[in-house]
Amino acid sequence: MKLRLDSGFTFDYTHLYGEEGDGKVTAADLEGLKEALGEAHEAVKTMRATGVVRGHLSKDGTPEKVLSPQLPFVAEGHLNSPASIARLKAFGQRVQKETDVVVSLGIGGSYLGNKVLFDVQCGEFWNMKTAKERDGWPEIYFSGNNIDARRTADLIAHLKHRAAVMRSHGGRALRLMLLVISKSGGTLDTMSNFMVLYDALGKVPDIEMEVVAVTDPNEAKPTLLKKLAMDKGWETFAVPDGVGGRFSVFSEVGLSLAACIGFDIDGFLAGARAMDEACRGDDVYENPAMLNAALKFAASEIYGRDIEVMMPYGDYLKSLSEWYIQLLAESLGKGEDRDGNQTPYGRTPLVAVGTTDMHAQTQQHQEGVLDKVVQFIRVEKWPEDQVIPNVFPEAEKLAAFAGVTMAEALEVARTSNAEALAANNRFSAVFSLPELTAFHLGELMYLLALSVAYEGELADVDAFNQPGVEAYKRIMGPRLAEIKKTAGRG
Ligand code: PA5
Repeated sequence: MKLRLDSGFTFDYTHLYGEEGDGKVTAADLEGLKEALGEAHEAVKTMRATGVVRGHLSKDGTPEKVLSPQLPFVAEGHLNSPASIARLKAFGQRVQKETDVVVSLGIGGSYLGNKVLFDVQCGEFWNMKTAKERDGWPEIYFSGNNIDARRTADLIAHLKHRAAVMRSHGGRALRLMLLVISKSGGTLDTMSNFMVLYDALGKVPDIEMEVVAVTDPNEAKPTLLKKLAMDKGWETFAVPDGVGGRFSVFSEVGLSLAACIGFDIDGFLAGARAMDEACRGDDVYENPAMLNAALKFAASEIYGRDIEVMMPYGDYLKSLSEWYIQLLAESLGKGEDRDGNQTPYGRTPLVAVGTTDMHAQTQQHQEGVLDKVVQFIRVEKWPEDQVIPNVFPEAEKLAAFAGVTMAEALEVARTSNAEALAANNRFSAVFSLPELTAFHLGELMYLLALSVAYEGELADVDAFNQPGVEAYKRIMGPRLAEIKKTAGRG
């Protein structure tokens, strides 16, 4: 059972869907959802055309449009316009020429998608390469994704060291950019790290520091970050109204970081656009977002498989799984339906990576409670591959897998895992990307984002708010104030 797009992107749901008696989601199950799926499709169409999503309210309780589906479509008057994309690219060219190090500060939706773009484009050893090997693109560090004094101190020490090396070997100051990303402009995690770094590194004579702010662009009612940017003349990019954090990777949140690493912005948006177009039809078997949502919803509601293990095969895709965790959890984990009835909904997402977690989680996937769908992500063709050499022919067990390439071994591990799970009535599915390009990544991330819109409709929850994250904030704010008062700090 496969849905294959012209681009080669494939959704294989063989181990999730089958005949009556197979114990999997059936055609009859989807038939039972027919009316709800029809309504969901109409609702998604309305969202695309007008931004209106029934029952969606902003944080302050007022109706708010959902404009993220517009982001892939670059057009005059859209959130991404030809001029805004040209400006991003010009920004990228300037960064490539004039910046040695970028620290990207953000959390949640202002971090997770950016980390995916970085990992896919740059990999683990990017910052250890020379500027020439990086083709002039800057070193990239992330901060603000936690409130961790030790890591922040390490980052400061490291950047001071980098500055000293630049002075002694390059004969000039280190050109550092703090790219501060916060829609609300006041998030504790992001802004506390920003303030600490700004203070500590701004004083270093061997560092030339520049700040670029990515925040709500409203000048009449500016966020704290926007106000600072206006007062201090920092360059700004926008997190537009109607684009929630977890949907913002296609906005200037993701694209500003993309511009700093030479990531293919056009390809990424084109992939998202292609996926949007593939999801226009009302036949559930031909519409990848609707099909994914319908199968996962049925798996959860009818078969009790309400945990989704997002398991890409490949180290540099772990952050994609982490991005998805936020997308699923914040979008669908809701206490009430859109009429205010207390009917909690939400499939629980889990991060896993193949093959790593086959040596950690798979025992439970294979034999534990029947409550999971393992969602694999597969890259069909990796740019690099190595034949495992037969360097120890005397060791029979090692010689047995010598001669196989690492990519082949990775895929055999994945298919073996899927087969073993299926043999024990465990649900799984696969998203296959022909290659790990910006285009196919755009397809996949957009598909997942649109899927939660469909599932929100099926479950009748507001997929675009996150009222639950306000509860701890109401407790935390006064406690911080109390600490400061007790300590007598000004
Ligand atoms: O999805 C969300 O809205 C959140 O995860 C936010 O992105 C996160 O809390 C960061 O918020 P902000 O961008 O306002 O700093």
